[in-house]
Amino acid sequence: MQYSQKVLDHFMKPHNVGKIENPDGEATEGSPACGDQVTLHLRVNPETLIIEDIKFQSYGCASNIATGSIITDMALGKTLDEASEIHWKDAAAELDGLPPQKMHCSVLAVDTLHAAIRNYKERHGQAKRSGFDKEAILDELRKVIYPQVGEDIVTLKMVKYVGFENGEVIIDLGVPKFDQYRDNIAEEIREHLEKFEAVKSIEINM
Ligand code: FES
Repeated sequence: MQYSQKVLDHFMKPHNVGKIENPDGEATEGSPACGDQVTLHLRVNPETLIIEDIKFQSYGCASNIATGSIITDMALGKTLDEASEIHWKDAAAELDGLPPQKMHCSVLAVDTLHAAIRNYKERHGQAKRSGFDKEAILDELRKVIYPQVGEDIVTLKMVKYVGFENGEVIIDLGVPKFDQYRDNIAEEIREHLEKFEAVKSIEINM
């Protein structure tokens, strides 16, 4: 697999690895695509809401460790809102690119950062747990990467329809019958959505 020098550098000597005692915000997220996990801890200045310390632990692959390293560098010194704007594509670009089939590893790392920021805000009464709606489903679908090109299925316009009513999710996908990733995509969508209490059933039409 072809990795950039920057990915290799961050993988061999990752920055900001470890834990913070009694963190102000924390999250552990798993990737539906591969089952790997990342934990991230934050220390936040309560006056300025600037991230003053950040640590991560990865049980993922080289791409994931490199992304954990780069996003913690990127988030350090930023406010929570600024750090929430970091997208997995920014992280991948900062690493001089990742192989397409490894983009989901970058999604996992960035997702964990966003979850830790949410956790801080929820703990400090700055954010209510958001309701679940079609937009939330689309947000989850934007984390499902089509491995052949390393882009998410919403951007690739593979999602033709999303419906959500009484806990029932209906998704129509435009994926050719012979596509080798067809079953993986459906399984990954299910794993992303099943974790929400509001979701009672998922129907995926392809
Ligand atoms: Fe699991 Fe990269 S393969 S995080």
